[in-house]
Amino acid sequence: MSNKQRYFRCFDGCRTAAVNSTTPLFRSYSASTQLLQQTPTLGQYDNPSRYLTPHPSNNITPHIASLVGRDLHLRPSHPIGIIRSKIQEYFISLSQSTQTNYEIFDAEDPIVTAQQCFDDLLIRPDHPGRAPSDTYYVTDSTLLRTHTSAHQSQHLRSGVDAFLCSGDVYRRDEIDATHYPAFHQMEGVKLIDPTVVCGENDISGEEWLKSPECQQVQDDLKLTLEGLMDHLFGPTTQKRWNDDYFPFTQPSFELEIMYEGEWLEVLGCGVIHEDVLQLSNRGDRRGWAFGLGLERLAMILFKIPDIRLFWTQDERFHSQFKEGCIVEFQPYSKYPPVFKDIAFWTSTIKESDDEKSVKEFVENDFFDLVRSTAGDLAERIELIDSFTHPKTGRSSRCYRISYRSMDRSLTNEEIDELQFKLRDLCPSLGCELR
Ligand code: PHE
Repeated sequence: MSNKQRYFRCFDGCRTAAVNSTTPLFRSYSASTQLLQQTPTLGQYDNPSRYLTPHPSNNITPHIASLVGRDLHLRPSHPIGIIRSKIQEYFISLSQSTQTNYEIFDAEDPIVTAQQCFDDLLIRPDHPGRAPSDTYYVTDSTLLRTHTSAHQSQHLRSGVDAFLCSGDVYRRDEIDATHYPAFHQMEGVKLIDPTVVCGENDISGEEWLKSPECQQVQDDLKLTLEGLMDHLFGPTTQKRWNDDYFPFTQPSFELEIMYEGEWLEVLGCGVIHEDVLQLSNRGDRRGWAFGLGLERLAMILFKIPDIRLFWTQDERFHSQFKEGCIVEFQPYSKYPPVFKDIAFWTSTIKESDDEKSVKEFVENDFFDLVRSTAGDLAERIELIDSFTHPKTGRSSRCYRISYRSMDRSLTNEEIDELQFKLRDLCPSLGCELR
């Protein structure tokens, strides 16, 4: 896992053109009723000016703002929409056999408060995932959700006992074939029937964790998710559970499946932490939660090799997919990449002992700068060299950027032009070109 924070997994993202409509938005609909008749309005949040505020804490780039509201997960014949429906279909089938009726929330606002995204989930103020180097802030207290868990507490608080919540999430991250700063997740939450397992008045803390009731919640969680994997990948799929850590679940697990000879991590989950339930005024109940990345599953199931493809407008991509069908993606082309290197000092010379205030280089700022300049033509960025000068103490980095279009051949001239623009912008990050 490339990300430093354990709860920030790398299930990454996608997009298509937004469709505006004036029909009212359905906030929630029940999984036991007909899904398609109640699909939420597409493009509801497609409005870059909502995200590009003049607030000093705002670090959202125009590129990111242009991704919000494209609602790939709600497009019935987009791979992300197909996977979302397929998962919901499984939970609908469960509502018949287990009497659990999952409410569905597919159109929550991607702007959430730090309280929803972090505090309600026991993610402490100093957690690295909250830093502006990792998260896109709209203001100092509102942000683009970094995971769909941001909606857990609000639905629990409003009295919902079981739900699925899907949507686009945003994280500042590296650039390669499986990482994109926007992607989609689905959250699932179920509180157990209180006549079977309940909370508060019973046991808590260590005693709860060791109890047969806690084990019962884990068993129900694992059984449910193993069934989901069989539904998606076939009944003979090999699975394995590993212990994991998330601040908001205890115990926590990750599920891996064997796919074409490799173990692939597909989701994170756990028994909802008793303090999360308390904070949502549901301390009398117990339950489980999971979160999975829709791109991750779609890349495996449709054999889509590059995460940027989800966002392409190219008909050669979209014409391959139909509602309800999982088919293998046929690459329509592989255009050659263009490589360019860029090298810079990431700190200035210390001229005297009384150091000047130096702008600290943040790698994710550089990745965002490349995306802002080159958009989806940036395929991959690799750090190919770094060293610290023994005398001056200055640090240097050299990055190799691969530019490649999914849809056409690039000319050296157009990439040179982008590279010049990038070089002009680098000093704004506190680096000095070499
Ligand atoms: N929100 C977690 C993530 O993004 C996944 C998760 C959801 C884990 C619910 C446990 C319970 O990585």
